[in-house]
Amino acid sequence: MSWKRTHLCGELDAKLVEQKITLNGWVNRRRDHGGVIFVDLRDRTGLVQVVFSPDVLTTTEFSVAEKLRSEFVIAVTGTICLRPSGQENSNLATGQVEIYVEQLEILSEAKTPPFPVDKDMDVDESLRLKYRYLDLRRNHLQQAIITRHNVVQIVRNFLENHGFLDIETPMLTKSTPEGARDYLVPSRIHPAQFYALPQSPQMFKQLLMLAGFEKYYQIARCFRDEDLRADRQPEFTQIDVEMSFVEPDDVMNLMEDMIVNVFQQVTNKSVNQPIQRISYHEAMTRYGSDRPDTRFGLELVDLTEALSHSKFKVFASTVATQGVIRGINLKGCGETFSRGDIDKLVEQATAFGAKGLVWFSLGDTVKSPIAKFLSENEISSIVRTMQGNPGDILILIADKEEVVCDVLGRLRIWLGARLQLIDQNQFNFLWVTDWPLLIWDEDEGRFAAAHHPFTAPHDHDLDLLETDPGKVRAKAYDLVLNGIELGGGSLRIHRRSVQESMFKALGFSMEQAYDKFGFFLEAFDYGAPPHGGIAFGLDRLVMLLTGNTSIRDVIAFPKTASAMDLMMNAPSEIVTKQLADLHIQVKS
Ligand code: AMO
Ligand code: AMP
Repeated sequence: MSWKRTHLCGELDAKLVEQKITLNGWVNRRRDHGGVIFVDLRDRTGLVQVVFSPDVLTTTEFSVAEKLRSEFVIAVTGTICLRPSGQENSNLATGQVEIYVEQLEILSEAKTPPFPVDKDMDVDESLRLKYRYLDLRRNHLQQAIITRHNVVQIVRNFLENHGFLDIETPMLTKSTPEGARDYLVPSRIHPAQFYALPQSPQMFKQLLMLAGFEKYYQIARCFRDEDLRADRQPEFTQIDVEMSFVEPDDVMNLMEDMIVNVFQQVTNKSVNQPIQRISYHEAMTRYGSDRPDTRFGLELVDLTEALSHSKFKVFASTVATQGVIRGINLKGCGETFSRGDIDKLVEQATAFGAKGLVWFSLGDTVKSPIAKFLSENEISSIVRTMQGNPGDILILIADKEEVVCDVLGRLRIWLGARLQLIDQNQFNFLWVTDWPLLIWDEDEGRFAAAHHPFTAPHDHDLDLLETDPGKVRAKAYDLVLNGIELGGGSLRIHRRSVQESMFKALGFSMEQAYDKFGFFLEAFDYGAPPHGGIAFGLDRLVMLLTGNTSIRDVIAFPKTASAMDLMMNAPSEIVTKQLADLHIQVKS
């Protein structure tokens, strides 16, 4: 018999009844019932029930069927029948039919897998990653990887229809400053010299604009040696886009259409357009975050003005040192919060970096550990500004603005989850625009680029680049979905003098700037179009689309949180000869 399949498991239905077909696949599950063996046969398209009956098979053939175990790979030929009335399985797409097997061939036997692949049950992740090829057989991951493929297809079609060219850029390159450490590759031919793997194709895509390609995209692999989290991998994929002769609106409008298109096609849900846009400043003051989750309220309220004359030492010293006092009204929480809950809240605020947290519980009277330090006027001004009502709890933090934003922003997310205010079925997109160009880096004692050094400043703020760099706003925008940064981009600097000022503001000497970016600066001397673009994290996009909480679940072969491949056991030592070829000596 030929074992070559004629049909796929998932595509069988009642229309094919009485046809003789051949299927190939894995034994998903075997059940024995009244002397008959039932197997759910699985291929990429789904499952179908195949039946081995001693009435149809010879004793020898049946004894082969008796050997079947989970994950054996088999070929079966048989006839499609309707299942007996009452025995249909409505949970299975092919649940109307079953195949009565006439011939069976075992193509490959299988050991018992280290975890069941026929169920979406919780399995220790390190075991899953060690046997990733088995993990990938599970329905959940199959669907995620298929969705990932579909997303890329939709993106490619969209960009193709809008005249973009897919252009590859090098993997062995020089570092692009995206803010993480580089993965380096030693050169054998050039002793003591290293390539860097790209943190993004940023400079290449800009050079492609200078080269006149006008619309570029790439599904680009990027490498960043940074602290890993559920939404960060050392290598990840960007949908990377760049366009010439554009303003920020052109990029945002088109990219919004692309992402909405992806969401609508994949989820069949509609997304409201235009996507709301708020400035970075507004995001920070209202939500304490540059990537706010807008699925729930708990917005921040500023009380600095209201408490500017307070005698309470925490407030007074904050105001005197140009700090801010902000708070959140926990609507109605007075009724459900115990004293222990409030203590937990204070503890959490401290863990997030607050020096303390003041609270007011509103009822017939206002209860607060600091009530005795405040005048009645101050208390009523707090209650009024925060629109407090009986039953509410008001929380306040006083500190430097960055600290207040950061702590309240994180508390807000923590409370949103704890108070179950988040509707998991909602997709809230948001553009965060007008980022600052530079952010002061306390540790380094200098300014760092909020995005990267190629981001264009606002035209009106250009002069500030020399005089007050922290005030310069950038033509930069991030797309945020449910509190996760999906993508970020900007208009780029396309004038050499501005790029030089930017390097200066970042603390580079001109020699250092030329040494690192001389080729790039020089390129601007030969006719550079105004240009801009964006990059989306493909892994994050697919994670959100598939309802996963880790990007590891949408990457076929991801790394662990400590950047290891547990299946191949990478990174690993290399032989001395290889090290010698690379002119490398390892310190023991
Ligand atoms: P940025 O650094 O913001 O911009 O990256 C763009 C998007 O890539 C995703 N991303 C990651 N995903 C998984 N793991 C990581 N370690 C990781 N780091 C980033 C995020 C992010 O929004 N060259 C610029 C883009 C531009 O200006 O056009 C850049 O790389 O979703
Ligand atoms: P202390 O003076 O440290 O005893 O603090 C008095 C009260 O103010 C306590 O309830 C502290 O939690 C609170 N507190 C202290 N520092 C801050 C701060 N920076 N912001 C808000 N509340 C604070």
